[in-house]
Amino acid sequence: MQNAIVFGATSGIGKQLAKFLVQDGYTVVITGRRQELLEDIKKTNPKAYVVKPFDVQNIEKCEQAFQDIVSELKEIHLIVHASGIGYENPELDWVKEEDTITTNVVGATRIYDLAFNLFKVQGFGHLVAISSIASLRGNRFSPSYFASKAYQVNYLESLYFKSKEIKGGKMYVTDIRPGFVDTRMALGEGIFWMASLDKASKQIYTAIKRKKRRVYISKRWQLIAWVLKIVPSWLMKKVM
Ligand SMILES: NC(=O)c1ccc[n+]([C@@H]2O[C@H](COP(=O)([O-])OP(=O)(O)OC[C@H]3O[C@@H](n4cnc5c(N)ncnc54)[C@H](OP(=O)(O)O)[C@@H]3O)[C@@H](O)[C@H]2O)c1
Repeated sequence: MQNAIVFGATSGIGKQLAKFLVQDGYTVVITGRRQELLEDIKKTNPKAYVVKPFDVQNIEKCEQAFQDIVSELKEIHLIVHASGIGYENPELDWVKEEDTITTNVVGATRIYDLAFNLFKVQGFGHLVAISSIASLRGNRFSPSYFASKAYQVNYLESLYFKSKEIKGGKMYVTDIRPGFVDTRMALGEGIFWMASLDKASKQIYTAIKRKKRRVYISKRWQLIAWVLKIVPSWLMKKVM
């Protein structure tokens, strides 16, 4: 029996991945703030889902919930971090900036660390995090979101390096970098190459099963990533 936790499973990518995991026989702990949505998901397969509602901004609650899950299930094989938030915030409204940083940086770091430390004790485990193509460059409309995603990918790479401290080589870190996926998180104008939730989630799930180090979703975003990495800042400033 394999156990997984999906942080941010009330909707979107996390919800879909939790469903695929249950179909493959996993027991899946689903989290998020909207408890009623988690309960609705559980009704579809009451034995397979475990509901743990909490806000990842509340670090104490997050730690407590994590401890409770580990005491309940004993071993966790897979942890998916899909909780995230982002705003179009051209006026740099502080409430939105702080919300983004507290969720995507502070909350994410706590979850990554809890996962890593658990896997270190267990001697195995797979951490999957949904970062973004946004991690590659800055953006004048959503600075904190783009910066938070850059933080995430660097932190994940650090944990990948750090995984050599875990004997046996059975810890994996997968960084999923979507372009646009059709969920409430698809931000702003100028959206293109939007992948359906179904297509994106299937590609993500395949990458998880293959224990990929990093992957762009959908696949064609690999090309955009390549361009983003070489375009100089002065040109980005002109066109973006
Ligand atoms: N959709 C895209 O185009 C796209 C592109 C690149 C990257 N991504 C990334 O993919 C991840 C998943 O997003 P999505 O597209 O699937 O959108 P989504 O449907 O809005 O999913 C976001 C999930 O995060 C949870 N969440 C947000 N704030 C939280 C908090 N404070 N505490 C606990 N849970 C919280 C939400 O649950 P509650 O609201 O119930 O708490 C929800 O389950 C995000 O990290 C996003 O940045 C998405």
